[in-house]
Amino acid sequence: MTSEPRLVIAIDGPSGVGKSSTSHLVAQQLECDYLDSGSMYRALAVWCHHKHIDPADAGTVARTASYVDLEIVTNPIDFRIAISGVDLTDDLHRPEVSAIVSGYASNQRVREILNKQMRAIIADRGRIVVEGRDITTVVAPDADVRILLQADPRRRIARRQAQLGGALDPATVSEQVIGRDTADSANAQFKTPAPGVELIDSTMMSLDQVVAEVIALVPEEKRFPRG
Ligand code: DC
Repeated sequence: MTSEPRLVIAIDGPSGVGKSSTSHLVAQQLECDYLDSGSMYRALAVWCHHKHIDPADAGTVARTASYVDLEIVTNPIDFRIAISGVDLTDDLHRPEVSAIVSGYASNQRVREILNKQMRAIIADRGRIVVEGRDITTVVAPDADVRILLQADPRRRIARRQAQLGGALDPATVSEQVIGRDTADSANAQFKTPAPGVELIDSTMMSLDQVVAEVIALVPEEKRFPRG
């Protein structure tokens, strides 16, 4: 038996806002598990794509989501995801996956199936940081800490470009970031904070500052697992 205080931190926000970097560091500092919910949509997209299942074929996509065995290692320093024994972690952030994933994430039945799996993981882990688009509102509206991370789109585009190591020109990166915002916001509301959700605007903040701000929102008695 563990006496560690339970803690669920939900962090939503658009792409390129720094959710993953922030969530990883918060999870490590507070000795939490980490769940990147976007990776579940991405893994399903990779799997369906390999099987030539078109996102427009909503019934087959949903059936696939319901029978595949999604295995997730929620370690913040070695997050991994596999489907039916095939580790897909290294494929998740390929540009061709980013281009198609919204189409699969728009499937409402898929969202219900994955949300159920996310809730089971959250219930099973004692302490966890979960990031996505609808975690604060739909998946874990009762989380201890709920945060919407925002940043000026120009800043997000610059960050995304730096992550890509300058492999794409700014106009293409801008088109991708803004295009994904539009597609993703049809599936979940993450532009304004829901009631009770804290807004953090990271435009002018360093990663360390954002992490410190998130941790400051955690009730003190839940911050340190071993008191
Ligand atoms: O955060 P990300 O870019 O890795 O997310 C991948 C895709 O999944 C993106 O199209 C948004 C979608 N997504 C979602 O609809 N709901 C979530 N909770 C997480 C991600």
